[in-house]
Amino acid sequence: MAGEAGHNINGEYRNQIMVRCTQLPAWQVLQEHQWEIARLHMRDLFSADPKRFERYSLRLDDILFDYSKNRITHSTLEHLFDLARQAGLPEKIAAMFRGDKINLTENRAVLHIALRNCSNRPILVDGTDVMPGVNRVLTQMRYFSDAIRSQEWLGYTGKPIANVVHIGIGGSDLGPKMVVKALTPYCRPELKVHFVSNVDEADLVEVIKNLDRETTLFIVASKTFTTQETMTNALSAREWFMAGVKDKEAIAKHFVAVSTNAEKVEAFGIDTKNMFEFWDWVGGRYSLWSAIGLPIAVAIGMDGFKELLAGAHKVDEHFRTSPLERNIPVIMGLLGVWYNNFFGAQTQAILPYDQYLDFLADHLQQADMESNGKSVDIDGKRLDYDTGPVIFGQAGTNGQHAFYQLIHQGSKLVPCDFLAAAHSHHKLAGHHEALLSNFIAQTEALMRGKTTEEAKAELMAEGVPEDRLDKLSMAKTFPGNKPSNSFLYHSLTPETLGALIAFYEHKVFVQGAIWNINSFDQMGVELGKQLAKTVLKDMMEDKLVDSHDSSTNGLLNYYKSLRSR
Ligand code: F6P
Repeated sequence: MAGEAGHNINGEYRNQIMVRCTQLPAWQVLQEHQWEIARLHMRDLFSADPKRFERYSLRLDDILFDYSKNRITHSTLEHLFDLARQAGLPEKIAAMFRGDKINLTENRAVLHIALRNCSNRPILVDGTDVMPGVNRVLTQMRYFSDAIRSQEWLGYTGKPIANVVHIGIGGSDLGPKMVVKALTPYCRPELKVHFVSNVDEADLVEVIKNLDRETTLFIVASKTFTTQETMTNALSAREWFMAGVKDKEAIAKHFVAVSTNAEKVEAFGIDTKNMFEFWDWVGGRYSLWSAIGLPIAVAIGMDGFKELLAGAHKVDEHFRTSPLERNIPVIMGLLGVWYNNFFGAQTQAILPYDQYLDFLADHLQQADMESNGKSVDIDGKRLDYDTGPVIFGQAGTNGQHAFYQLIHQGSKLVPCDFLAAAHSHHKLAGHHEALLSNFIAQTEALMRGKTTEEAKAELMAEGVPEDRLDKLSMAKTFPGNKPSNSFLYHSLTPETLGALIAFYEHKVFVQGAIWNINSFDQMGVELGKQLAKTVLKDMMEDKLVDSHDSSTNGLLNYYKSLRSR
């Protein structure tokens, strides 16, 4: 099957992807090696090697990636790099960048890297260079965003646009929403960009209730233009708009679409000259770099959007050309595999010490969990090893007062990623230093922990009575040895943000490559969608439902009884 669908993937690549990662020699070696490492404490590793930080940190421009606080030795990394080579990672990276159809189930290339290919190097899909199309849409985005920002684009009564409402969901929402929030300091206060995603009417109602039709523009963003949530919200938005407007022609000045589906866009009533195209080789969760990023361009300007692309492109080049040993996304991915498959870690925490990155964990949740939440390999065989972790997180320091307790003293191993900028966009005295000291201290606390002896000594110094010392010192013991990576950079510019997102995208790629899964389809979201159609039909009928299991029938029938009250 892999051979058939991946007809333009070379033979070497195909052969390699047939082998299960657990059968690779390096996997066996790592299993043995884990026994050795499990006994070691990072405190001791740091004491034994004063150069550990220098050894296990990398820089890409001003972005520092410190991975020294991990449960690894030189041998661990050697074995992990062996695993990557044996799993065919270098060939798989080359195949993606070449435009091979590595999304085998959907027979599609995976080319978000083309969207930010600032070098303009030709990238072929079915023999055609995709770059002219990419550049054409970028130009279209520039005209549009410039026109909105310069107030040349006028609403139906001749007023400039003051509010842009982006309607989309999943990949057509999370990326642009996260980026617009992250780059708030680069946005214009007089031009507001809002996001509506949930089919829950509260989402749309809360956004439009204070808006003026004359100065509001909607971007309807959907790759398929069939997604229930987006289409329901778009129809209600159009209804709201038309309720105050007589002339149907006015729609052209207030609705634009971003989609791969021109037919559906036209059927919805949006003129295709107001449509921004993208392509089936752009996965939803990788689409913020395409015209799905239109609200970003509107919010920060097209030059800012291009800087975002440039940051990601820099990482693409780093990922494509750096040796595995100096390749940041490769190391991120392999460390994740190390904890996931050899230490039984089930989760990965994303901890930006930056309020503007409040939505980063949400975005990475989709990027990672929709990509690598798979249980069959690319040959359709059921897996007997763990794949993608549960991604969660929150902006620091809020998380410290919520879930860090479990990370420090709970029974689960939670690898953590910290991200922080050396410079804030603001100048309130004392805040940024407090924020950054918390970030750095957390990585130290997680690594070092506190021994029972240390806890006891502290309690004694505080004068705690002898009879309470044992119990209290146990409760105050921190095992430490908890792994973390840290990204530290100058400031959160569009370019840096682009780079950070791209690091994570490629980290997901690396893990999917090792686990031999297709990181680029999302069949797991279909069943719920399918059943929701039947449930909706049953819900609308005026009789009791008995066609499902007793719980589903019970929920439906109780809902009906509540609704009629
Ligand atoms: O959640 C499933 C999904 O297909 C995502 O992959 C996608 O990003 C989202 O729905 C939205 O899809 P569309 O852009 O087609 O509306």
